[in-house]
Parts: sequence; structure tokens; C-alpha cells
Amino acid sequence: MAQRAGPAGFTRQPVEHAHDLACDGVSLASIAAAEGTPIYVYSARTLRDRYREIDGAFAGYPHALHYALKANSTLAIARLLRELGSAVDANSVWEIEVARRAGFEPSQIVFTGVGKSPDELERAVAMGLKAINVESAGELARIEAIAARLGHVARVAVRFNPDIDAKSHPHISTGLKINKFGVPLDDARALAQTLPGRPALKLVAVHVHVGSQITSLDPLRRAAAVAADFSIDLREQGLPLEYIDLGGGLGVSYDGAGVPAVSDYVSALVGEVRRTSLPIVLEPGRAIAAPAGVLVARVIDVKPRTASSHFVIIDAGMTELIRPALYNAFHRIEPVSGPEAGDCQYEIVGPVCESSDVVGRDRRLPRLAAGDLVAIRDAGAYGSVMASNYNRRPLPAEVLVDDGTWRVIRRRQTVDDQLVLET
Ligand code: LLP
Repeated sequence: MAQRAGPAGFTRQPVEHAHDLACDGVSLASIAAAEGTPIYVYSARTLRDRYREIDGAFAGYPHALHYALKANSTLAIARLLRELGSAVDANSVWEIEVARRAGFEPSQIVFTGVGKSPDELERAVAMGLKAINVESAGELARIEAIAARLGHVARVAVRFNPDIDAKSHPHISTGLKINKFGVPLDDARALAQTLPGRPALKLVAVHVHVGSQITSLDPLRRAAAVAADFSIDLREQGLPLEYIDLGGGLGVSYDGAGVPAVSDYVSALVGEVRRTSLPIVLEPGRAIAAPAGVLVARVIDVKPRTASSHFVIIDAGMTELIRPALYNAFHRIEPVSGPEAGDCQYEIVGPVCESSDVVGRDRRLPRLAAGDLVAIRDAGAYGSVMASNYNRRPLPAEVLVDDGTWRVIRRRQTVDDQLVLET
């Protein structure tokens, strides 16, 4: 469906209805009217802008962006990133499968994951990926056995755990020793030293990822410094690397509070790694996808809660966007039509039969009534990918707006789609 192109991203501007929230100039109300709710709507222009901002910030320093598919792996989004020149970080063989169908070559895929099954490793080794990011000595031995049996040389990177506190939500901090991720630095050194005698393995990189939604540069810079030191030590021991993989993790501003600028983030990393002369691989997910998506939902009911507040029950909840329930995450919620702010105090909840199914606590909004549309902002990353069929709720539809045109990139699931797997 074509409409005229407007400003990038999600803006309030006169479209069909004055002050409607629009995506790249296309009214969200018109998309909801055509496709129903709940529905994810993505801005292609924001995805491109975010990718290009990170890419451009390297200012000529050699690098490769491996978009973290776990943030949003809908096929059309993966394809769009491939067309921009991105490579990918996959976290399961199923993400690798989606990446291949989106057109990525094995040489554009790095494979991370704390528990890769024997089947996943078999497929990964046979495919010949850019690197398998190894999480333990045991996993390295399993990769070696598969590679030797297949007559391949598996390209591996050691994911080390630097014992750095990312100061993010504990559920998404990965860089402390007590977290299950990676090999402690000293063990990683010892493991790397075994590589020269293992012809079925080629050590191509060191890898580190200390967490997600990181809002200060310090942990990211420190992890990069440790990775740079580690790679120099390895070179001195006769183990030259091809690149350093610094993972993802840059946070976005969900509530308007300041987060590091992309340019400062990239400069900090390049500043630490430059002395190695090695290219940097980055695995950004959220920083590219989060601001590019909204979840549009319709108000089902409004009912009294306390003397001064009401429940607003919407048709999207923890089944469509689990972040508020799981991490107590904040997402801005605004009416699609009319003013953004108002004086009614609302607890915005989903339809799922759990009290944890809260999408927004204590929000001040204009008066809402059944039938109104609301937009849950910055839902492009870790939104649709974490949706579930709890209560047999169908996975929501997804729409991509590109150059004034929108199209459904994933249709709404039906009960038949769910039951096709069952007897
Ligand atoms: N690389 C690795 C090895 C990762 O584990 C992750 C995220 C990324 C890259 C991408 O990180 P990003 O740039 O998106 O921060 N579901 C949670 C986030 C989990 C992140 C897991 N790993 C949430 O909704 O906040």
C-alpha cells in the first residue's frame, strides 16, 4: 500500500488524522485498520540509519558489523541488513538457517551460544562459518572431533569471560565470572596455547560480550582493552589472529535518559584496539533494531484500579512483548491519535492470565477508551522474537514500512498454524 514518504522513524505529524503517530510518514492507524492488532511496525529507514551510523563511525578503521539476529530475525529484516552490507551473529543453528535463507554466506556468519548441541556443531562445522565462538574447553574438543572426522579445519574464536560488570540488568549481564558465558581469561589463555598442536582447528579471533543494554562506555572499553591485550599476547606466542570480536551491548534510551553516542562508543573501542592493527567485529542487535519498531495495540477495556488510577487493558501483553514482565523494562507508551501526554493515571496491562502481564506501570496519558490505539515504542529488538503462544495467543503480524510503502513481512499466526504441529 503506497503513501507519500515522510520523515524517518516514528513521528507525530499530520497524516490522514492530525497528530497521528506515523512511521516514515505512514499512519499507524491506517496499518492497524488494515491488518488488525497487535501488530509490530518497523521503519526501514531507521534500520538503515542506525546501521549506517555505527558503520560510519569506524571512519575507515577496518571492521565488520555482524548484526545480532537474536534481536530480530524476521526474514525481511535480515535481508534488509544484508543489503546494507551487514554480516550476522547467530545464536543457534536455526538462526543460521534463517540467515542462509536471507542470503548470508557461511563466511558472513559467526556462531555464538553457550550450549551448542552436537547437531548444531555438526552443521556449523560442515558449513564452514567465519567462526564458531567457543564457550568452553569441552566445546572446543567436540568441534575438533567433528572437524577431524569431516576432514575440515574449523575456524574458532575463544570467547573469554573478562569478569567485568556491565552494570546492566542482571538477566542480561554476561561478563562476570559468575555468569555462564565464556571461558575465564586465564583458562582462555591456556586453551589458546593448545591450538598449535590441533590441526583440525584454526584460531581466528578472541571474542567478548559483556552484556546488553549497557549505558556506560566504561565496561565496553575495558572489555575491548582486555581483548586487545589478549590478542597481542597470543601474537607474541606465535598465534596471530585475523580480528577481534567485541560482541554487542550498546544500550538505547527507552526513557529519554542519556546513553553513549554511537560515535563515542566506536571511538572508545577503536581507541583500545588500534594498537593491535586488527579489524574489529561488532555484533550490535538492540542499537540497530530497537528504535526501528513499535508494537501497536488496541485498548480492550478501561476499569477502575485505585481511587486515582485505572487499568487499561490492551490486546498486547507479555505474549507479544515480554520485556516489561521479564526485566521490568520500561517502554514508552503513547496513544496513536491525539496528544502524547495527559493527566490520567494508568496501569497498562495485557490480556494474559498473569499479574506479571503489565506493559506499563503508573503511566500518565490522555484519557483512553476501548477501541483506541496505543503504540509501545522501541520494541524492534527482543520484541517479536521473544513472543510466545501462551494462552494459545497467535504470534502477532509484522509490517515493514519502506519508502512510503508498507507490507506485511510476517502474517498473523492462526490457530491452524499452531495445530499443524500437533496430533
Ligand atoms: N552478541 C552476543 C554474543 C550476545 O549474547 C548478544 C545479546 C548480542 C551480541 C547482541 O547484544 P545487543 O547489541 O542487542 O545488546 N532479551 C534481552 C536481551 C538479551 C541479549 C542477549 N545477548 C532484552 O530484551 O533486553
